[in-house]
Amino acid sequence: MKILVTAGPTREYLDAVRFLSSPSTGSMGFACARAARRRGHRVILITGPVSLKPPKGVKTLTVESAQEMYRKVKQVYPGIDAVLMAAAVADYRPAHPIAEKSKKSGKDRSLRLLPNPDILKELGRRKGSRVLIGFALEVQNARRNAMAKLRAKNLDYIVLNSPSSFGAPRVSAIVFSRKGPVENLRHVSKNDLAKKLVVLIEETRTLSTRR
Ligand code: CTP
Repeated sequence: MKILVTAGPTREYLDAVRFLSSPSTGSMGFACARAARRRGHRVILITGPVSLKPPKGVKTLTVESAQEMYRKVKQVYPGIDAVLMAAAVADYRPAHPIAEKSKKSGKDRSLRLLPNPDILKELGRRKGSRVLIGFALEVQNARRNAMAKLRAKNLDYIVLNSPSSFGAPRVSAIVFSRKGPVENLRHVSKNDLAKKLVVLIEETRTLSTRR
């Protein structure tokens, strides 16, 4: 199969040296890319700025902003069989980024933000026979919100985890399908979670081609 993985944060620049972002390190997405490669798939990894080495045998493209990530993802999507969307995409970007370094004035300032594209939702609209897996970072009403995201984005699975996953080697996660929870994983390594997700993709693809 040809699998697209996204990873890392995006950066939404305010001026030449400042940006809005998240503490994502890219480790979950990179683990997914490695796991998919190890199981013999062709992998394209589109990542925001991280300090990890590109996995061997994986075509890795680096982007900065959500808009850039969206453009690259759209370019490769037609030839893709499955997507693991692990990137922590910023939902908003500054409306008026400044090319130079902004100077302080000592006065109050407000920042106008514009919504970024919801990349995964757009992919869900053109899903076809692809297998789509998203991640949901939830703090309150976690299960309900995760299921709502799975439906809204037309996904096969969503991996519910918490902000404590950022940069952590181990995570606790619940994987939901449309019918409800399918895996409840406590304190597993990101590599083990990644392998489980790739196996889920393989099983889902096999089932849908048998129908
Ligand atoms: N996602 C995306 N594009 C965005 C925001 C999120 O593709 N602009 C993807 C993420 O990569 C993840 C899934 O959608 O796989 C859920 O992301 P999350 O940040 O948990 O949720 P949001 O859709 O941003 O919703 P909210 O911030 O309201 O919880």
